[in-house]
Amino acid sequence: MDALITVLPGDGIGPEVAAAGQQVLTAIAEKYGHKFSYSEQLIGGAAIDAIGNPLPPDTVASCRESNAVLLGAVGGPKWSDPNATVRPEQGLLAIRAELGVFANLRPVQILPQLAGASPIKSERLRNVDMIVVRELTGGIYFGAKTRDATSASDLCVYERHEIERIVRVAANLARNRSGKLCSVDKANVLETSRLWRDVTSKLIATEFSDLNVEHMLVDAAAMHLINRPSDFDVVVTENMFGDILTDEASMLAGSLGMLPSASIGESECGLYEPIHGSAPDIAGQGIANPCGTIASAALLLRYSLHLNEEADAVEAAIRQVIADGKRTADIAVDGDQVLSTQAMTQAIVAQLEQR
Ligand code: NAD
Ligand code: IPM
Ligand code: MN
Repeated sequence: MDALITVLPGDGIGPEVAAAGQQVLTAIAEKYGHKFSYSEQLIGGAAIDAIGNPLPPDTVASCRESNAVLLGAVGGPKWSDPNATVRPEQGLLAIRAELGVFANLRPVQILPQLAGASPIKSERLRNVDMIVVRELTGGIYFGAKTRDATSASDLCVYERHEIERIVRVAANLARNRSGKLCSVDKANVLETSRLWRDVTSKLIATEFSDLNVEHMLVDAAAMHLINRPSDFDVVVTENMFGDILTDEASMLAGSLGMLPSASIGESECGLYEPIHGSAPDIAGQGIANPCGTIASAALLLRYSLHLNEEADAVEAAIRQVIADGKRTADIAVDGDQVLSTQAMTQAIVAQLEQR
């Protein structure tokens, strides 16, 4: 098939991991006879430096024409002044809103060989396989913001239809998995969470009564996620809770660098990015873990291009390379040989080529 993919490298390790993802997509195209074209565009701090706008109009136009978007990461100390008026992260939020990708799927799978890289006891990691469905275009990220010399506010708003559509995505996923859904909120304190719980309960009662649904408060969820992670299957939650819980969940997988995400909505064009950020502390050293981005490229193949066999092949190649003992620094334990971003990517490409 022919596909156009917009690549948004962004900042820090963003360009390093985005290049890795693109290399793997190119290897897939060659092996399976597809023609992927790439349009590389500016976003984040790089776009602020170039034209003063974290999401240039050309970037939006390119994404809109594309079958899918692969993004590295944005942000960094250069643009983090609390008094700055333009910020890299605004570009990321704006492209999510522009593309209408309200559902951010963050699968958390554990490769058994990485149990030693996790701070959690190995026996608790057995059978961990969950997917967090994070609402991505609403909530406190997008409400009105104010600030003056003495106070500041961020408004958290959810509309009934925004809750309904994200819970529907999660419930359909649950139906195709174990039938278990956990909705996470803070209904003991927040009105938005009480609406969330009400909408969720009604939707489940009318359309998904076959599912086994649990409501959990977010503070308890943060604890249970570490204490009994294998009890979770599909988790659905609002924008900010999903952001925080998935960085926490990455510790089950051994590193933030391992986890991918797919952001989808009503259009075919999805946005695919690792869950981590621009990692300023290791940027430019060529040591970032590319697996989260490469696994995001697999999700791109599956969800936007409907190339399931190709997606499976990428995921299998990551698993095999890890099984072969290949490690970047973040997932290495004593005695492991440490590979660069490039060497890890090459190993995954080589694995794909020989399959
Ligand atoms: P971060 O995710 O960039 O880094 C947190 C820690 O994890 C760091 O120690 C980093 O070195 C490590 N890490 C992250 N990805 C890694 C990888 N692939 N391989 C190895 N180690 C990895 O979070 P932060 O430091 O809090 O934020 C830095 C900047 O990134 C901020 O400006 C933030 O806004 C931005 N950010 C962007 C995104 C995104 O673009 N989607 C996501 C999160 C944070
Ligand atoms: C993520 C990031 C972003 C978010 C930031 C950079 C806006 O943390 O993609 O997880 O909070 O959504
Ligand atoms: Mn985050």
